[in-house]
Amino acid sequence: MNMPNLKEAKIRGKSKVRIIKDAYKVKEELKNIGKDKKYFIKTYGCQMNEHDSENIKAILEDMSYKETEDMEKADIILLNTCAIRENAHNKVFGMIGRIKHLKEQKSHIIAGICGCMAQEEGIATELKNKYKHIDLVFGTHNFHTLPELIEKNQKEKERQIEVFSKEGDVLENIPVKRDSKYKAFVNIMLGCDKFCTYCIVPYTRGKQRSRKKEDILKEIEELIKKGYKEVTLLGQNVNAYGKDLEEDYNMANLLEEVAKTKIPRIRFVTSHPWDFTEEMIDKIAKYENIMPYIHLPLQSGSNRILKLMGRRYTKEEYLTLYHKLKEKIPSCAITTDIIVAFPGETEEDFKETLEVVDACKYDGAYTFIFSKREGTPASKMEESLKEEEKRERLHRLNEKINDYSNKANQKYKGKTVKVLLEKVSEKDPSMLSGYTETNKLVNVKSAKENLGKIVSVKITNIKTWSMDGEII
Ligand code: SAH
Ligand code: SF4
Ligand code: F3S
Repeated sequence: MNMPNLKEAKIRGKSKVRIIKDAYKVKEELKNIGKDKKYFIKTYGCQMNEHDSENIKAILEDMSYKETEDMEKADIILLNTCAIRENAHNKVFGMIGRIKHLKEQKSHIIAGICGCMAQEEGIATELKNKYKHIDLVFGTHNFHTLPELIEKNQKEKERQIEVFSKEGDVLENIPVKRDSKYKAFVNIMLGCDKFCTYCIVPYTRGKQRSRKKEDILKEIEELIKKGYKEVTLLGQNVNAYGKDLEEDYNMANLLEEVAKTKIPRIRFVTSHPWDFTEEMIDKIAKYENIMPYIHLPLQSGSNRILKLMGRRYTKEEYLTLYHKLKEKIPSCAITTDIIVAFPGETEEDFKETLEVVDACKYDGAYTFIFSKREGTPASKMEESLKEEEKRERLHRLNEKINDYSNKANQKYKGKTVKVLLEKVSEKDPSMLSGYTETNKLVNVKSAKENLGKIVSVKITNIKTWSMDGEII
């Protein structure tokens, strides 16, 4: 058994990152262990977690398990969890209760918790002590060992709790079963060293480790051969890509080389404003296949709060960056993340956030009430607002955000845009949906043959969360 440890998770040593190409193996005798059996995996959290689930699915399929979307039919149930805010916690423990009921009827079910919550010391301890029906607990650093964990659990009839709080390696050659045939996530860096004072990610994901450009480009070349049209370069702080590499190679260099592969669409998330360079802006402006869409988390518009958050930029610096982006990439859509009610946030501070929203007129935003995360510096800062006041601030912010988002969308009416058609509508099978270059969701009437194609669409109708259009 290995339990996570908060003190260890904080360590950032000088040791070199190891790139391991053969960490994942499935023994011959395990390759059929899942024959005629089904797995169900529920994923919470960010795109990084979604991508980890794509890896976990491939690992299970290497053992002959087949996917089911019905938890009740599954022989193995995994929850790939997120620790970013408290509410995720409640959802997961609700599901753990449901799994208990299922296991009372079918005791052979293997139930596992993985992902960022498993990396939390308090949660892993709670799972170990109180939730004995959970058979597997493993973290973000070792999901590639799942075959061995399943084997041990079955042979030894013992729960397997294996969570490591190491700084992290880069594991290559982990298989992947991608959810889409047209767009793919590609990790470019793992972990995070920014340690924003509210955030748990640096503890759950380890230190910043960039993948080698050769490995990234090879993965993208293979995706192109398979017919993929879009890649999203993933990392908690992609703009810091390369800072930990020995060679002098940065995000702007990588964007340029990926653009030259000629993959039709390139996106990247998430951009920390602090690491956004002029050089990067120039590359985004230069290459048509780098999409004019940037997610640029603001978090707060008050310099005092930004400082307490450890964000390393001021409101003025953020606005300068914002204006440069809009100037050099005029068609660019910009979205953001904002936290309200950070400890000590006054009405004045909050108003400054609203002012930045007025200045940036975002295309959209994810907005959150500050959530205390155990072990982070902000969890020790004093809070004075009542729940009601926090919700009221969030509400005021959301009204403004929605207003600007609607206005930004209204501008699309009558325009012709390019859309990568990627899904058949669940409500109406004669409709396909996809995203514009600026990441707006569009529905069109179309034959299924157009799936995976980038088509020109005239926008006819604007709705709250999507747009309708006609292929021209
Ligand atoms: N790496 C990304 C953020 C990943 S977390 C970045 O730096 O931009 C996604 C968002 O969750 C953050 O941008 C932040 O707005 C929000 N978030 C993170 N920790 C939070 C907390 N403790 N309480 C509330 N929101 C939080
Ligand atoms: Fe969290 Fe900050 Fe790292 Fe983003 S940059 S993952 S908010 S610590
Ligand atoms: Fe959540 Fe972990 Fe992502 S905490 S947001 S799943 S990195």
